[in-house]
Amino acid sequence: MKVTFSIIKADVGGWPGHSLVHPKLIETAEKELAKAVKDKVIKSFHVTHVGDDLELIMTHTKGVDSKEIHKLAWRTFEKATDVAKELKLYGAGQDLLSDAFSGNIRGMGPGVAEMEFTERKGEPVVAFMMDKTEPGAFNLPIYRMFADPFNTPGLVIDPTMHSGFVFEIWDIMEHKKVLMNAPEEMYDILALIGAKSRFVIKRVFPKKGGKLPADEPVAVISTEKLYQIAGEYVGKDDPVAIVRAQSGLPALGEVLEPWAFPHLVSGWMRGSHNGPIMPVGIKDAKCTRFDGPPRVAALGFQVANGELVGPADLFDDPAWDYTREKAQYVAEYMRRHGPFEPHRLPLEDMEYTTLPNVMKNLSKRFKKL
Ligand code: 13P
Ligand code: 13P
Ligand code: MG
Ligand code: MG
Repeated sequence: MKVTFSIIKADVGGWPGHSLVHPKLIETAEKELAKAVKDKVIKSFHVTHVGDDLELIMTHTKGVDSKEIHKLAWRTFEKATDVAKELKLYGAGQDLLSDAFSGNIRGMGPGVAEMEFTERKGEPVVAFMMDKTEPGAFNLPIYRMFADPFNTPGLVIDPTMHSGFVFEIWDIMEHKKVLMNAPEEMYDILALIGAKSRFVIKRVFPKKGGKLPADEPVAVISTEKLYQIAGEYVGKDDPVAIVRAQSGLPALGEVLEPWAFPHLVSGWMRGSHNGPIMPVGIKDAKCTRFDGPPRVAALGFQVANGELVGPADLFDDPAWDYTREKAQYVAEYMRRHGPFEPHRLPLEDMEYTTLPNVMKNLSKRFKKL
């Protein structure tokens, strides 16, 4: 059977500030989605949060971009926004950029990652959710999972993975996409995705002629850039991703291994700073220090007959303590730069800036060199 796995997320109000989601918002969303299971709109769901982002994880059989599913998510966020407004949560309704649902939730503020696939005999799927960063933060770990043999020995020793994978890469400035083959085009792929504020990995596919259908994605990442949609600073793009594992794909441990390196990502504090991404369990998915540091949580599921079995909170494990400690060391090191780059983002990547005003006020005092 074919199943659709959807994560749709939005920040509809922080508690307090931008740190967490209030439990009442989670309850509200759970009630809406439970109704949708009863009405046979979705097959199963799990509601959670990472930082101030409300995350709806759902399975159904309606395919990607289903109007019915997107409408359900939109209505759920609207209901949660009502509660957020009652509690005067911070930035209530922040990511809902429109008053009315228009048929597809993409481009309306929430982040979306969805994939439809033929369910295998055993179907492990991981939902990755980040706060205080942007879609390009997934480039490095997704590349490592599906293209780096130093991360994923299966690429070398598993005959079903040895031919590699196809990467769909989006240029989010020019609104173009390209399909590229790994390992054949590894250096060209890296030339693009190293520029992570512009080129983002959108999907990964198996190669043709292998164990898995080549037209069914094995990884998908949300690529919504809120400030590009809205044309002004409206919060960030805190991304999510879905990754399938095992039997012709990276093993679960190969999917998790890239996160042992807390790489630098953009979007900390006011969407304008670089900092390390720290893998945490949901109980620690709160953004406190300097509104961060940026966090990633990983919930693992087996999908059985279209339903979620889980979650297992994969980073809620002492095996990640060393990475977390390293992340905090790096956070401290970066913080000491204060308002200087490379802690603060370069001007063109900052979500907002006072520079035009500063320059205007100084315009008479600037002299030619
Ligand atoms: P996808 O459904 O492919 O994620 O589209 C996202 C989008 O439209 C970004 O603005
Ligand atoms: P969010 O995008 O998670 O709402 O964070 C806003 C911010 O910049 C906090 O410093
Ligand atoms: Mg927020
Ligand atoms: Mg957020």
